[in-house]
Amino acid sequence: MKICERLSTLNVPDVLAPFGKKITTAAEFDAVKPAIQKLLQEEEYGFIPNKPDSISVEVINSDSKFCAAKATFTKYKLTAKYGEESTEFVFYSVIPKAIPEKMPVFVHINFSDAIPHKYQPTEEIIDNGCAVFTIYYQDVSTDNNDFENGCAKLLCPDRSAPHAPGKIAIWSWAIMRVIDYIETLDIYNPDALAVIGHSRLGKTTLLTAAFDSRVKFACVNNSGASGDALSRGKGGESIKDITKKFPFWFCPEYFKYADKEDELPFDQHFLISLVAPRHVLTGTAKEDTWADPQNQYLALTLTDPVYALYGSNGLIHTENMPICPEYLPDGDCYYHLREGSHYLSRDDWNNYIKYIKARI
Ligand code: GCU
Repeated sequence: MKICERLSTLNVPDVLAPFGKKITTAAEFDAVKPAIQKLLQEEEYGFIPNKPDSISVEVINSDSKFCAAKATFTKYKLTAKYGEESTEFVFYSVIPKAIPEKMPVFVHINFSDAIPHKYQPTEEIIDNGCAVFTIYYQDVSTDNNDFENGCAKLLCPDRSAPHAPGKIAIWSWAIMRVIDYIETLDIYNPDALAVIGHSRLGKTTLLTAAFDSRVKFACVNNSGASGDALSRGKGGESIKDITKKFPFWFCPEYFKYADKEDELPFDQHFLISLVAPRHVLTGTAKEDTWADPQNQYLALTLTDPVYALYGSNGLIHTENMPICPEYLPDGDCYYHLREGSHYLSRDDWNNYIKYIKARI
């Protein structure tokens, strides 16, 4: 099937006319980005907490013999201060000892604090000449309706407010704080900073990249509903499903769109477009129909005109919908539809790393 046939059945808002007036230049799109960000925060994710007045980072422990002494492992505690108040979370890094001239630095928000982990093949990442910082997302705040624990307690004092940050916004805030720290390090290369996350943490990765231009590569793995997939006409998980089971990921205002996708004044391609002209890498999987690889593809291709404004290729693709296996690595965005199920695999990592290394 052709992309245009698929889109002709969906009433998708034009990202180049997000508030009616047609945008024709990159400068105009840059100027409208804050209003799109406001819209997405008001209607979907809640407001990402502000940058703190200051952060401080303390080393808890380190191991210079990590990965056969090829790398140094460090565990840190980050404290974020707002006036007299503060909140904290731990994070980790594994940095190769032989630092390549151009080294991708990943921030991986993960489902575990185990390093290595099935979703973080650390030794391979190091051997590939990359550094990786890891946040275990529930060290920031738990993945449930409890906004009294971790950083949520300070950052979301009134969960009942219509635009209160959901947990995705709070996890995203934590990634930004780790980037604040990375910026102070000698290894920091502004052209080589990547964020990676799988599934709900892929949604978190995309939100972070949309709001933080320090993220040059957003590796959005199997993120699907309310992440990188178009909500209109979506197979698998709908807004009704996700807001029923995971209401705490979003702001309360989002619940009104359950079964009312057509009333959204945006769709998820608005979120992806905020990353342009930086790189979005979308990983999808054939068996992951809950996420809907076809709608993930549609959302990314709908950002083509935005990338074009910046003189960028965006995703290089044909006019057809993807058929597995599909690998599209040649543009300024990346998409794959691989065999297999919902997972952040070594192959996924290797594909993202290869793409990034070719561009730094
Ligand atoms: C559930 C949820 C998805 C989410 C996934 C995950 O399946 O419905 O939206 O992406 O969990 O985070 O693993």
